[in-house]
This record gives sequence, C-alpha cells and structure tokens, in this order.
Amino acid sequence: MLALTHIPVLLSETIEALAVGPGGRYIDCTLGGGGHAAAILDHSSPGGQLLGIDADPRAIEIARVRLSDYGSSVKAVNENFVELEAICIKNDFLPVHGILFDLGLSSLQLNGSGRGFSFGHDAPLDMRFSPSQQLTASDIVNTYSEVELARLIKAYGEESYSRRIARWIFKERPVRTTLELAQVIERAVGGRKGRIHPATKTFQALRIAVNHELEYLEAVLQQAVGLLGFEGRLVVISYHSLEDRIVKRFMQEESRDCICPPETPSCVCQHTARLRLVSRRVITPSPAEVKSNPRSRSAKLRVAERIIAQDELSATAERLHFLGRTNGGRWRQPAQLKEVLQCFR
Ligand SMILES: C[S@@+](CC[C@H](N)C(=O)[O-])C[C@H]1O[C@@H](n2cnc3c(N)ncnc32)[C@H](O)[C@@H]1O
Repeated sequence: MLALTHIPVLLSETIEALAVGPGGRYIDCTLGGGGHAAAILDHSSPGGQLLGIDADPRAIEIARVRLSDYGSSVKAVNENFVELEAICIKNDFLPVHGILFDLGLSSLQLNGSGRGFSFGHDAPLDMRFSPSQQLTASDIVNTYSEVELARLIKAYGEESYSRRIARWIFKERPVRTTLELAQVIERAVGGRKGRIHPATKTFQALRIAVNHELEYLEAVLQQAVGLLGFEGRLVVISYHSLEDRIVKRFMQEESRDCICPPETPSCVCQHTARLRLVSRRVITPSPAEVKSNPRSRSAKLRVAERIIAQDELSATAERLHFLGRTNGGRWRQPAQLKEVLQCFR
C-alpha cells in the first residue's frame, strides 16, 4: 500500500530534545511533509516561529498546504540545507533556539513518487531530491567505471557484494529503470538471501551519492552550531550508520575542549567546546512506534546544546551582546542584535 502521508519519527522525543517553548525560533532543515514542523509550531505557540527548508519543491508545496493554518509563524523555503547559513541571513532568521535535521527521504518520496528512490515501483533511475541538481542515478549507473561503481556501492551502501554487483551492472548496461536495476542486482548476488532485498544497499548508495548526503551533512553541522543562540539545541535524526557516525563524531568533538590525538603530550589544537551533549545515549523509537511505523526502526536521535566558551565571549560584537545585553540571561532578539551590530559599523 502506498503511504499517502509521512508519519514523523520520534515526534515527542524530538520536541523534548529541541526543548521547544513558547516564543522560540526554530529551523526544520528537512521539512518533508511538515509533521515535525507542525508539532514544533504547536509547542512554540504563542509567538513561535519556524523556518522550514527542503530541497524538494514538491515537499515544500505539500508542507505549505499542511502548515497554512500557522500563517506568518512559518516560512517554507525550497533550498538545500548545505546553504543553511546563507539561507538564515537571507531570511533574517538567526540566532535560533533549535535546529532539526530528520535526514534521508520521506515516505512521500519513497512511495510511488515516480522518482526512482524505490525498487518497489518501476520508474526512471533519477533519485534527485531537487530537479535542479544535475547528476542522476542513471548517470552514475550508466557512465561510471566498474571500479568507481564498486567503490561507491561499498562506501555508501556498506555492501559486501559491491564488486560483483558493479561487474553485473557494467555488463548489463544500459540499465534505465529501478526494476531493471533491482533485477540485475538480484542476478548478481544469486537471488534473495534474507528478509532484506539484495538491491537495498545499492539503492541507498546511489541515493547518497546523487544527493551528496554525507558531504552536505558534514558541512551543515558546522554551520548549524554557529546559528544557535546560547543553550540552543541541535537535534539530528539519522537512519543509517554512515549518517549516525558523522553526527556522533561531530557532537563528541564539538563537546570537547581539546581534540588532539591521545598520544599528544600537551594540547596543540586550541579547540574549545561549543556544544554540551544533552544525552550521551542515542535515542531510539519505542517498540510500539516501530510496530506502528516500521520506517522508524533504524532511527537514531542525537541532541546537543550550544554553550559559549569563555574566550568566545570577548571576540565579536555579537558576542558582546551576551555579556551586556542578554535580556536577563534569556534570548537575544534579532532586533536587539541588529541594534548592537549598528554600533560597530
Ligand atoms: C525524512 S524527510 C523529513 C520528514 C519531516 N520531518 C516530516 O515530519 O514530514 C527528509 C526530507 O529532507 C529533505 N532533504 C534531504 N536532504 C536535504 C538537503 N540537503 N537539503 C534540503 N532538504 C533535504 C528531503 O527532500 C525530505 O523531504
């Protein structure tokens, strides 16, 4: 059966992790069907504001309809989150109380969108989140060398039959549709072996490569920390180990004052912590959630909170605001921030 809606994963855990409160400002970097966004807006009322971002214009259309009752509290923009900093500046939306990433793709994209994300439906091998991107899955499948294909399937799919699959794809090209590709992979690995379809990992690898998912995640986490106000929360839900490893390593590194290798006798990195881990443990869905929404089974939520290091406090006009004009230790408002920045022009 096709999913006609996307059920938000770890919804109450996300609201709690973001510490959503009335009047807060939040960014949902992966707006999708707007499920998390609607809950954030509900919990931040009155006065809450949300900037929603999605690379997929269709997702933006759907989310705009779903969130229309929230009026001017929400703005949905069709952009790639790798440009997060620029998007926030353009929309005058910083600093913020919380930033959410619910990575990967939505049920609306996976099921019958005709965009080639799933081998459950025959469709051209596209897999782009945005039609403005150049590279498609078909380009990769039909033009990469056998060695490049094997490397990509191994690296992004963690597929142990990567070389065999690459050899078969290379031999059988052109491969034009999702079903053709799934059949080639089934022949390569000698049919179905367990519960998971043998094409699953290759499809994941192609989608990650087409959308630069891992590179963009690495790049955006850095930007996100800089956009958070004091005690702002960064929440990331990931669905496979490659993503989760990046998030875990990033949050761990950013929560340490020194990131020198352990064998270094004294610190040379001069790194200062910008985050505090809110929960050391990864948060996963309850058995009841997995039962009612099987898509949630691989979800992992990590959360960290922005802290301001002592030496950061004296550095810029914006940081001076924390010292002198923090509004009783509460949030600084964009209007106040602008006022302070004016003084330094
Ligand atoms: C799992 S869905 C989000 C679902 C959403 N939380 C909800 O409750 O409906 C992930 C969404 O992120 C979008 N996405 C993935 N990578 C992106 C990127 N680099 N920039 C912007 N959007 C992206 C996808 O198009 C998809 O709509």
